[in-house]
Amino acid sequence: MEINNNILKHYLKVAQNMNYEIMKLEPQNFHKLDNIWDMSKHKEMSEIWHKQLISGNRIIFVYCENGEYLGQGDLVCDMNDPDYTIANKRIYLSRMVVKNEYRNRGIGKIILDYLIYYARNLGYTEISLGVDIDNIGARWLCEKNGFTNIIYTGEDSDGKYVKLLKVL
Ligand SMILES: CC(C)(COP(=O)(O)OP(=O)(O)OC[C@H]1O[C@@H](n2cnc3c(N)ncnc32)[C@H](O)[C@@H]1OP(=O)(O)O)[C@@H](O)C(=O)NCCC(=O)NCCS
Repeated sequence: MEINNNILKHYLKVAQNMNYEIMKLEPQNFHKLDNIWDMSKHKEMSEIWHKQLISGNRIIFVYCENGEYLGQGDLVCDMNDPDYTIANKRIYLSRMVVKNEYRNRGIGKIILDYLIYYARNLGYTEISLGVDIDNIGARWLCEKNGFTNIIYTGEDSDGKYVKLLKVL
């Protein structure tokens, strides 16, 4: 019998990720994100993200397996940029990141699905994100999951990037 490779790949990912939970991060556990990415390399931004978490403007979700933090994805209500956020209508997906050694196992997709589900439940009808043009893996993941509307193309200190939108 011919086995469909995509189906096999899908079930392999499901089996690998069976023992996971997604938790809302409490501000006192912010430092634990260091297990996912090197916080010492992002000191300035970490302070901003921490403040946003405390104020409630940023909700941080953590993907955990056996209590270990392996992935993150955030939702931000107000980015002070109408491309990214519109009150009660458009929410911004930020800091989707999976610990390096755990990439390509389907964790990114699980986090993305969860953020979309959560944003919808909050009553938002649109979700936005920004991604570097040369970040092929992330762009592929986002486009495949409905972020197909390019609302802005620009360039910053990290290079060319696009702002993408998905209607929820
Ligand atoms: C983007 C990121 C979160 C994806 O996490 P992940 O756990 O590896 O994602 P998944 O395993 O769910 O894979 C998602 C898809 O992207 C594909 N993919 C991953 N890396 C890829 C690459 N370098 N080139 C092409 N496709 C790639 C996978 O094959 C998979 O596609 P499939 O479902 O058709 O097989 C992760 O690579 C990461 O942390 N990157 C650094 C931070 C970042 O760039 N964040 C995104 C900002 S928008």
